[in-house]
Amino acid sequence: MKMATDPDIAVQLAQMPTEVTGGKATGHQGVPPLLSVEHLVKNFGPVRAVDDVSLDFYEGEVLGLVGDNGAGKSTLLSLLTGYNHADSGVFRYRGKLVTHTSPSTSRKSLKIEMIYQHLDLAPDLTVWQNLFLAEEKRRFKILLDKHSMRHRATQVLEELASKIRPDDLVGALSGGEQQVVAIARALLFERDIVLMDEPTAAISLNKVRDVLDLVLRLKRLGKAVVLVSHRLEDILEVSDRIAILSRGAIAQIVDNDHQISVTDLARMMFEGAVYRAAGGENGKTSEGV
Ligand SMILES: Nc1ncnc2c1ncn2[C@@H]1O[C@H](COP(=O)(O)OP(=O)(O)O)[C@@H](O)[C@H]1O
Ligand SMILES: [Mg+2]
Repeated sequence: MKMATDPDIAVQLAQMPTEVTGGKATGHQGVPPLLSVEHLVKNFGPVRAVDDVSLDFYEGEVLGLVGDNGAGKSTLLSLLTGYNHADSGVFRYRGKLVTHTSPSTSRKSLKIEMIYQHLDLAPDLTVWQNLFLAEEKRRFKILLDKHSMRHRATQVLEELASKIRPDDLVGALSGGEQQVVAIARALLFERDIVLMDEPTAAISLNKVRDVLDLVLRLKRLGKAVVLVSHRLEDILEVSDRIAILSRGAIAQIVDNDHQISVTDLARMMFEGAVYRAAGGENGKTSEGV
């Protein structure tokens, strides 16, 4: 039997009706997604951490991602960042099939930036140095053109309405402020998609507001933001759509019409888990919610 080559797969996918991809929201009215993932599967030995996940990501939209501990949220993000490889499934960026993912293609071809909970910053360096540290290619340029790097850092911090100065030492900033630096990198390198995994878990409660404002600011700048949080009230406040993961699979995707309560959302999570535990298929709970 002839093995399918990538172009074959591309043609097959191009011919598929759009209904085949999951994660469709009702509110996008023909706007194509920036990024789609289709039928992603990731196993760790016997554990299926991501189970046939299809999701669309749209510009200027915040997608909340919720689910119990171990539901597969972080693993799903790790497939998006290229840190882990999917066992199967494909990515489509602006309609174009992307077959190979690595941390580098994720950043450069899929334009994805991940904001890690334990921020990946160098405390002994300044804000502007940290901003440019992420990109190997530019590292050399820092030495050549400090002035323009610092200038660009100032501009990006202004876009984020931040009071942080480019020459501040990152180690002297609060957790919330460090998050601004991490997010500023996403703007600096013109990423389209910003992933945040429990961004408020490591900061003080009174800074949560700042992070939520940043999420909304990124949305206004046209970014697709994916927010993972166990703080359901935060998810409900800033998300346009909410995807509920249960045992690696999408149990439900809801448009957030701001009439959903924390209790409703918790129940959706619970029902998704119960339904899947009972052997139900993806995408539906027994009776809506
Ligand atoms: N590197 C790994 N090796 C083995 N199992 C893993 C690994 N990462 C995650 N898992 C397992 O995959 C499942 C999903 O985990 P995770 O994506 O971290 O969930 P969440 O972020 O929703 O809490 C869990 O059962 C977890 O134990
Ligand atoms: Mg996690």
